[in-house]
Amino acid sequence: MDTKRDQLPQVRPTRGRPTASGYEGACHDVVFLHRFRESPLSGNTSRFGIIASISPQQRGCLLNLTSPGDAERLRNFLAKAGYTEANLRMNVGMLDLPSSRLRNFARLQDLTSEPNCINTLVRWFWIGMPQDTRLAEKYVPAWFIPLALDCGLLRQQEDDLCPEVMLFPTDQFIFAADHTRKIDLEDPDLVLWPNPTSRLLARFTVRRPSCLTLDLGTGTGIQALTAAVHSDKVVATDLNPRAVAFATFNTRLNGIENVECVVGNGFEPVAGRKFDLIVSNPPFFIAPAPQYLFCNNPLDLDQLCRQLVRAAPSYLNEDGYFQMLCEWAQVQGQAWQERLAEWFEGTGCDAWVMKGYSEDPGEYAQEHIRSTTSSPARDGALYDSYMTYYRHRNVEAINGGLVIMRRRAGSNWTFFEEVEHSPKEPLGELVLKTFATRDFLLSHSSTEQLLDLKPRFSENVRLEQVFQQSPNGWKQESLTLRLVKGFHLFLGLQPVVAEFLSGCNGTQTLGELIGAFATKVDAPFEQVQKECVDTIRKLIERGFLLY
Ligand SMILES: C[S@@+](CC[C@H](N)C(=O)[O-])C[C@H]1O[C@@H](n2cnc3c(N)ncnc32)[C@H](O)[C@@H]1O
Repeated sequence: MDTKRDQLPQVRPTRGRPTASGYEGACHDVVFLHRFRESPLSGNTSRFGIIASISPQQRGCLLNLTSPGDAERLRNFLAKAGYTEANLRMNVGMLDLPSSRLRNFARLQDLTSEPNCINTLVRWFWIGMPQDTRLAEKYVPAWFIPLALDCGLLRQQEDDLCPEVMLFPTDQFIFAADHTRKIDLEDPDLVLWPNPTSRLLARFTVRRPSCLTLDLGTGTGIQALTAAVHSDKVVATDLNPRAVAFATFNTRLNGIENVECVVGNGFEPVAGRKFDLIVSNPPFFIAPAPQYLFCNNPLDLDQLCRQLVRAAPSYLNEDGYFQMLCEWAQVQGQAWQERLAEWFEGTGCDAWVMKGYSEDPGEYAQEHIRSTTSSPARDGALYDSYMTYYRHRNVEAINGGLVIMRRRAGSNWTFFEEVEHSPKEPLGELVLKTFATRDFLLSHSSTEQLLDLKPRFSENVRLEQVFQQSPNGWKQESLTLRLVKGFHLFLGLQPVVAEFLSGCNGTQTLGELIGAFATKVDAPFEQVQKECVDTIRKLIERGFLLY
């Protein structure tokens, strides 16, 4: 009996793939998207003559919203006017982020040419266009413009009202962020809008009740606000004071009262505190020189992420989770797991690493340069500096993915895997289940301990049969067990294994199933039992079988 174990989980080298936009609605089936692969935002937007210049106030970020009543008025008005994620996409046609790379400003401008309330809002807060004051006054309520000026959403410039921020609606909240045009100006303290990596981390976040949650590197506050729903309290920290100002504004705009926003480096602002949940989407890019606070790791190669992994456990309660997106270098002569394995040693945590992509340094450098600089004039020098940096350090690939750690006393485990396609549904439950299942299997490490189980297949499992035509009619070519929800794992089976597994319906013990099966196959009982138990163990571990 032989299962094609090499197909479980689905393991293939993955490459980042360019997508049309940073707005997740426009991205399809890409897993751990490279931050900038989704944010093609360089180039000079001003030639379209529609983008407001950045005011001195904006650099300092004078966002200010202190009255809960004003905040409620603002968010109710935006929602009623249709400034929602669904409406912007479906009815207004804002499928993409405004981007000079996509050269979509003319189209977005045309789509919003009819003067009305929603188009006025979209032109200000999505496309980033100044609007004539007199015209705008016709379409928004009288209180809106004074309030938007007062709280820093708009700025008066002669006859125009200019947007100071982008407003980015998601299905739950609305976030003020720097406008996409700021990336063209290479502003180091840019506060990035919610992007597919923000959503990816949010999707994986464990959503059980938490007394105290930390969002380290909060940016607009997207992780903090999402966690506020299932946390008694959230602390949101960021090294960039502008980000903390945006996050504070966003908590107020969304009527969230249990998030404390603090400026500070790494874990410094929360010294001595313990959390049930820590989430972080840190600046993990591996580049020779720090350029943007939001994405550039200032330490050598991947050392910022390593430091966070090493430090996080002392801020976690027992059974608390730390979830972090990261990139790490793969150096010559080392398997990708080897470098990471050292990060987790002695942390007192179990760790699950999902690698989502791997890029060769040249491809990675080119992509970074394209995404983070607006003019090709410096490409040659920059590319040289990137490649010199990688070559001196023997970097042969840059990998990216998600790290999940759980603090647990006892002997800890580390589990590495490659995940090509990330499911679209929330995965917090799946994370908890995966940890619980691994605990169970570790505490049932002998064959005898499993024989009393009555395994049954998850409702998300399907067995697929493929036939090929032959001179004698249709001939079975393959049998594949598939998970159709969560990670779409698959496992090729031989017919005899499929037959054995057909009995796993929760009514018979594994011992009984193996006993009956052993009488049908021509092999020594010990061998049959061992192979059956190994298969069951693997299927339980990856969620095909429930126990
Ligand atoms: C990639 S952004 C993530 C923003 C947001 N959490 C999200 O998921 O979209 C990284 C954030 O980390 C912040 N940051 C950079 N270095 C930091 C440090 N040493 N300590 C705390 N925050 C830092 C940046 O200012 C930026 O806001």
